[in-house]
Amino acid sequence: MMGIFSGFLKLMLLYGMFLWLAQGKVHYHEFVLKEANFTRLCETKSMLVVNDSFPGPVIRVTKGDTVYVNVQNQGNNGLTIHGSWYKGDVNKEVNEDLETGNVTPQSNAYTINGQPGDLCPCSNESTYRWQVEHGKTYLLRLVSAVMNVEIYFAIAQHNLTVVGMSGSYVKPILTDVVMISPGQTMDVLVTANQPLGRYYMAARQYDSIRQGVKNYDKENVTAILEYKGDYTPSVSPSFPNNLPTYADFSPAIEFMKRIRSLANKDHPINVPQNITTRMNISGIYTADFPDNPPSFFNFTEDDSPDDTTLSVQGTKVRMLNYNEEVEIVFQGTNLLDVSMDHPMHLHGNSFYVIGSGYGVFDIETDPKDYNFDDPPKLNTVTLPKNGCVAIRFKASNPGVWLWHCHYERHLSWSMSSVFIVKNGETPETSIREPPPYLPPCKDSFTSRLLQYENSDGNRLNKID
Ligand SMILES: *[C@@H]1O[C@H](CO)[C@@H](O)[C@H](O)[C@H]1NC(C)=O
Ligand SMILES: *[C@@H]1O[C@H](CO)[C@@H](O)[C@H](O)[C@H]1NC(C)=O
Ligand SMILES: *[C@@H]1O[C@H](CO)[C@@H](O)[C@H](O)[C@H]1NC(C)=O
Ligand SMILES: *[C@@H]1O[C@H](CO)[C@@H](O)[C@H](O)[C@H]1NC(C)=O
Ligand SMILES: *[C@@H]1O[C@H](CO)[C@@H](O)[C@H](O)[C@H]1NC(C)=O
Ligand SMILES: *[C@@H]1O[C@H](CO)[C@@H](O)[C@H](O)[C@H]1NC(C)=O
Ligand SMILES: *[C@@H]1O[C@H](CO)[C@@H](O)[C@H](O)[C@H]1NC(C)=O
Ligand SMILES: *[C@@H]1O[C@H](CO)[C@@H](O)[C@H](O)[C@H]1NC(C)=O
Repeated sequence: MMGIFSGFLKLMLLYGMFLWLAQGKVHYHEFVLKEANFTRLCETKSMLVVNDSFPGPVIRVTKGDTVYVNVQNQGNNGLTIHGSWYKGDVNKEVNEDLETGNVTPQSNAYTINGQPGDLCPCSNESTYRWQVEHGKTYLLRLVSAVMNVEIYFAIAQHNLTVVGMSGSYVKPILTDVVMISPGQTMDVLVTANQPLGRYYMAARQYDSIRQGVKNYDKENVTAILEYKGDYTPSVSPSFPNNLPTYADFSPAIEFMKRIRSLANKDHPINVPQNITTRMNISGIYTADFPDNPPSFFNFTEDDSPDDTTLSVQGTKVRMLNYNEEVEIVFQGTNLLDVSMDHPMHLHGNSFYVIGSGYGVFDIETDPKDYNFDDPPKLNTVTLPKNGCVAIRFKASNPGVWLWHCHYERHLSWSMSSVFIVKNGETPETSIREPPPYLPPCKDSFTSRLLQYENSDGNRLNKID
């Protein structure tokens, strides 16, 4: 919803994982990426989009289908596409900020299906409208393609029943608001049971840092849920008065606590129990990617030692044997007094979230509370501010898998690493051979070092 566009690209990756298991239909798609002009917030800009549309085309598949996608990039840039709207050239702004060490820019708006909605300038003619029939129940797929913040989402006078996350069923959560992190997806049932009329679906930032933060993003994005039928709509749709403001922590915390796997006979869970790799990882990137942080201190104390904030650049990865069972404990910290949530995302594998809580992880006592009954199976988990999360997964998908914080700015500041899962012993358990026409990576590093001009007119280098 926040951007179906990059959302479905992710969906494609998800289905890609199961190619050889698939039995259903086979779909072929051609995506052409090129620059096109779009006008939002009173200004026109050119952007790299799929098939001339923003959000891109929707493709529909059923579990078990096989999807082939041919992507042709006719644009000038490598591909990262997101749901936040920036008036300026976001690649240029981000490159400048990375160069100077500044915080990357705040977006000028969030969008729902590509539209900022009635409350943003020059946007009310194109607000996304969703027509419903009274009495029906609809499945809403929420995809947060927002770059850098967590989001509260609600629909005026309508409950939401969350039944899935990251493509796995969860025990139904009846709620009037959800908190969704970048990279997360949710399947939500909505019953159109209210008087015929128009109701805002709205979202705004949840800022987990602390009360009193000034530079949170103040934008409110809206779309309209509109009942079909014969009636005179009110002048303005009603707004969800339960939509929390940026520093309301408890609705987010309460919502996260309620996420549990469906874990029934038809959808059983299978938590790895033979853990041969254990890692406990704090939010700092380290030089020789170890299984433990370089030093242990009270990660959540108010005045942590300054030297713990220094990170070291490196390209260190962790090798995993095929089918090895891995446990990771993510530990949030209070460094520099800007502790916040981190949406931790693993590519290529889903994991069970067997534990989470606040404070410093205790290896003696915390594992006793692990949930082996109905832990949610996710691919993006919110590591709570000053808290910890324990996950388990079985490395059954050979390949090179990035794992990282899904705040794009944290990712670009190195809050990421890579697992290399080795091949199994059969062709079915091994990575596929590259296609014969796969172009080699023949560009050297220096030929990709481009010059660009920053807003002060200075010429700087960047890696393309
Ligand atoms: C976008 O609009 C600008 C200014 O009107 C124009 O020069 C440019 O060719 C357009 N780009 C595309 C891809 O249509
Ligand atoms: C995208 O555009 C290409 C080229 O025009 C077309 O062949 C393809 O069907 C389009 N794909 C979708 C999913 O709309
Ligand atoms: C959009 O806002 C303008 C200015 O307030 C108003 O004149 C116009 O009728 C609105 N359009 C819609 C579709 O609400
Ligand atoms: C939402 O759920 C609550 C709790 O079950 C219920 O009291 C309320 O009537 C529901 N509201 C709507 C609009 O269905
Ligand atoms: C968004 O809504 C909040 C809460 O009503 C309000 O404080 C804020 O000013 C709104 N933002 C904008 C840009 O109008
Ligand atoms: C760590 O710091 C937190 C916050 O100041 C405090 O509540 C906690 O007791 C400390 N833990 C230890 C083991 O000192
Ligand atoms: C546990 O995992 C190791 C390494 O993957 C494997 O060698 C061993 O056979 C496994 N043990 C059991 C009981 O499955
Ligand atoms: C981190 O994990 C290692 C390996 O399991 C363990 O020896 C160590 O005690 C753990 N440290 C903490 C603070 O949990």
